[in-house]
Amino acid sequence: MKVCTKINEIRAILTQARTSGKSIGLVPTMGALHAGHASLIAASSARDDITVVSIFVNPTQFAPNEDLAKYPRTFEADKQLASAHGAQIIFYPDVAELYPDGEPTWVEVTGDITKVLCGKSRPIHFRGVTTVVSKLFNIIKPTRAYFGQKDAQQVQVLKKMVRDLMFDLELIVLPIIRESDGLALSSRNIYLSTSERAAALVLSTSLQLAQSAFSQGERNPEKILTLVLNNIATEKLATVDYVEIWQLPDLTCCTNPMQASNLLAVAVYFGKTRLIDNIILEA
Ligand code: PAF
Repeated sequence: MKVCTKINEIRAILTQARTSGKSIGLVPTMGALHAGHASLIAASSARDDITVVSIFVNPTQFAPNEDLAKYPRTFEADKQLASAHGAQIIFYPDVAELYPDGEPTWVEVTGDITKVLCGKSRPIHFRGVTTVVSKLFNIIKPTRAYFGQKDAQQVQVLKKMVRDLMFDLELIVLPIIRESDGLALSSRNIYLSTSERAAALVLSTSLQLAQSAFSQGERNPEKILTLVLNNIATEKLATVDYVEIWQLPDLTCCTNPMQASNLLAVAVYFGKTRLIDNIILEA
């Protein structure tokens, strides 16, 4: 396993690989890797000749009141997990490497797609994500880049960025990985106390309730939202940030009756920890 901290170093290695016709898979992460990341790394190593995992806790996607300082940093364990699932290179730059002095140049996807859902509660978040992911795409020049459906809005925003800026790569989205009791894997789950961890199961049970109603023919979005909100309300440790339904792919308003491919997305606080989860409602 090669760890590169410098842009020049990783560029030299990857230019050579590209010249000899090798495909490159990129799994962008902020570290604290778990089985969700492992599924992305394994998918890349099954398909691409070289798998690069980037580990960078990107400061520009955190607002001043958020958890940048305490975000889990577990580099040694991350290295083991990445290697065990087939990664050959870890790109592990420091902040100065990716954000040299001065006001950064921003890459920003505009419009409702970045203003609704997490864009409403975290107004600078997606600008930070698209800026850092553009930098990574320009440095690594991957053939394919792998992201998890857990960050459903991030995936749609990045797909739009790739389309609009004509990045020459394929964006692959893989399903949410859950614990056996339904909790979606997240690097932030480690913040949860035992009682908050138990309470957080209300996320997946609520999404399942919505899916059952949808499968049984319910197409009124208000009724589905009420069902979910009422279920979350039974959990006293849960405080809702949002529960919303949007139409895919571009997060446009959902119609009543709902059409196919609607995203039901939730963000809920358990204590100070804000967790997100989602489901694409299917008939
Ligand atoms: O999903 C994440 O972990 C981050 O938002 C990403 C894509 C690595 C950008 O910092």
